[in-house]
Amino acid sequence: MLKSRLLLAASALTLSVAAFGHGKKDAVDYRQSLMTMIGWDFGHLSDMVKEKKPFDATEFSMRANRVAAMSDQLGEGFPKDSMRQESYAKAEIWTDWDDFQSKAKDFTAQAKLLADIAKVNDAAKNKEQFKKVAATCKACHDKYTRD
Ligand code: HEC
Repeated sequence: MLKSRLLLAASALTLSVAAFGHGKKDAVDYRQSLMTMIGWDFGHLSDMVKEKKPFDATEFSMRANRVAAMSDQLGEGFPKDSMRQESYAKAEIWTDWDDFQSKAKDFTAQAKLLADIAKVNDAAKNKEQFKKVAATCKACHDKYTRD
């Protein structure tokens, strides 16, 4: 009785795994999705900084928090065996791993500072710190992504 229930549970598990495709997607999907999401929130922050849309302290803070939280997940998207044709990542990521990680850490540190500063409604300070975060995106992209 127990055995057949376990078997049933096991087959239900198989079914649900099948429903989610492979269960585990490729790391390239993960990092491109994460970057797309970071880019989404960062784009809205950028619009406010550049006054393409009105500065809204609540929205600014919410999006800065998101970017800071997502920045922590970056490393997970770059396991060693994840060079792929469809990826814009350069092989140097894995040969200069320490430098890549230090650039990722700079990003996290500056993104967290932005999230802290954004708690205070001061557009000038937000703008100044936004630029520092943007510089960390650029530093990594310049070295570790291809066109
Ligand atoms: C430590 C390195 C690093 C940092 C920091 C970084 N990125 Fe990236 N980003 C990458 C790499 C590598 C790729 C290419 C990923 C791939 O194609 O496999 C990428 C890709 C992207 C993409 C393209 C996603 C797609 O597939 O369409 C966007 C958008 C992006 N990054 C935005 C940002 C923004 C905005 C920031 C800063 C707020 C940032 N990134 C910070 C390394 C970084």
